[in-house]
Amino acid sequence: MASTSTDTANRPKLGPSPFSVPADLPKLPEVPGTDPTRCVLDSFRIAIAKSVADALELTIEQVYQGVDYGKKGEDFTVALPRFRLPGKVDDLAKKVIDKFQPDDWVESVTHDRAFLHFKCRTATLNRLILDQIHALTYDTESKQPEYGANSIGEGKRVVIEYSSPNIAKSFHVGHLRSTIIGAFLANLYKACGWDVLSLNYLGDWGTQFGLIAVGFEKYGSQEALEKNAIQHLLEIYVKVNADAEKDPSVREQAAAWFKRMEDGDEEALRNWRVWRELSIKKYEEEYARLNVHFDEYTGESMVGAQTMETAVKKLHEMGLIEEDNGALRVNLEKYKLGKAVVRKRDGTSIYLTRDIGAAIERHEKYKFDKMIYVVAAQQDLHLQQFFKVLSLMGYDWADKLEHVNYGLVLGMSTRKGTVVFLDQIIREAASVMHEQMRKNEEKYKAIEDPEKVALEIGITGIKIQDMAAKRINNYTFNWERMLSFEGDTGPYLQYAHVRLSSIERKNPELLPLPAPSKLNLDSLIEPQAREIVFLLGSYPDVVKTALKTHEPSGIVTFAFRLSHAISSAWETVIVKGEQDKEKAKARMALYLAARDVLGAALRLLSIKPLERM
Ligand code: ARG
Repeated sequence: MASTSTDTANRPKLGPSPFSVPADLPKLPEVPGTDPTRCVLDSFRIAIAKSVADALELTIEQVYQGVDYGKKGEDFTVALPRFRLPGKVDDLAKKVIDKFQPDDWVESVTHDRAFLHFKCRTATLNRLILDQIHALTYDTESKQPEYGANSIGEGKRVVIEYSSPNIAKSFHVGHLRSTIIGAFLANLYKACGWDVLSLNYLGDWGTQFGLIAVGFEKYGSQEALEKNAIQHLLEIYVKVNADAEKDPSVREQAAAWFKRMEDGDEEALRNWRVWRELSIKKYEEEYARLNVHFDEYTGESMVGAQTMETAVKKLHEMGLIEEDNGALRVNLEKYKLGKAVVRKRDGTSIYLTRDIGAAIERHEKYKFDKMIYVVAAQQDLHLQQFFKVLSLMGYDWADKLEHVNYGLVLGMSTRKGTVVFLDQIIREAASVMHEQMRKNEEKYKAIEDPEKVALEIGITGIKIQDMAAKRINNYTFNWERMLSFEGDTGPYLQYAHVRLSSIERKNPELLPLPAPSKLNLDSLIEPQAREIVFLLGSYPDVVKTALKTHEPSGIVTFAFRLSHAISSAWETVIVKGEQDKEKAKARMALYLAARDVLGAALRLLSIKPLERM
């Protein structure tokens, strides 16, 4: 955890950017909300906005909002109707074109119906974008690559809760999605200057633990528990459930046991504590393989009984509670959210109340500016209900809670059968991938540690498949498709990164390569090269958009577009075999920048980019 202090002064800050816009270029005004030191395309947009604003007597800020990425090979486009100016668009366009002066920022403008298309000066793009990437990758104070980062959230704290599996139950694909999307969001918020605290809110409380306690006496083994707690507890759970089907007294014993746990009976809690601890240990190993980590493990068991009681009392006093046969509930029908039970007839706590209590305690403890719950869309109603209850209780911070939801995964099973454990998923991915790799015997032999590579690429395949589309979409799990090297898959992205990484090894005579600012980049004139440069320049915008939408798919799409652009460039924009050494160096600088940005995008997605495979 970065820090839990509530004073903002101690929170991490992005240092000043090591990149500044060169003074030999035409001076541009500053526009609020832009930062050319971190996204140099901002400068080009400002230059465009200025030329339109000057001609049409608008403010630069007004126009800036309307400078969009162009389609079909255009750099930037301005749609004239958006300014609601009197007169015909053709006349307005003519005014802009007549007044336009090409300079080192913008080379030309063309007019197409209601649109103006602007073309950026290629030499300036090459120089500034490659230089900025290099500076923000290698010259940052933090010694961490920062290209794509921004300071939008500087000084603000976000709590992100994700994964949150249930101990002694299966880790299903829903939990996997939460883990993958949550890890991405944690990385994303960090990259945008936020102080991030990641939480795993375990399902570690409830009557099932009474059942396991009863079952443990009959089926438990200390040895099996220590070997794989998650697996052993589920085994017991399954067996004791079967017993309970036949013998109703098992459930009674279990309920009595859980009641003792809720009452804080140390003896009843002793085993449970061990189960919880060993399960966390096992989870941590598996999360580590997924390149995912948590600042804190908490859980339903950790919510204070006092907090929940006070909350229910408060709801009572506010007249929000109605009784139903001994149970207490909040009527939310006015908000089309049904009736939310906050206490069961037997007085034991429930999921919803624990969430209410947990949110209150977290706000007290972390003073967050935002708290995100990464939970399946199946629980939309649950989250809306407890958000609403908190807001009815008068907590003004209730509007800082956000639910990031996602759809279902269908058809996930291993070749041996249904998946219940995270480690089964990981093992299957590695073994399917291993088989794929073996299909190319020659390449396979050249791999140093095939097991490890198979594992990394396998995990990449799962993650990319998961994040490739909008979160809310359901998708069907497909090992073959996700682990193929062809098509838009994780292995394809890793392959693109590996190929870019090999360029230094294959061209040692060009090394050490000077920084882009010391190279003559004017030779980068091929359309394929320009396309790559422009895409690279757009990466900070892609990150910004992802922060707004909480969609990893934008980053995945970017990674694919970049990889496609690179693969179309290999044949024309060659390094090896290029006689002109200066040209070869400029091209190498381009590919290395592409490698660094593709690597940054993959890391943001919690994927470890490979150097060799
Ligand atoms: N453990 C829950 C489940 O598996 C998910 C918890 C989601 N987070 C929350 N604060 N309710 O369904």
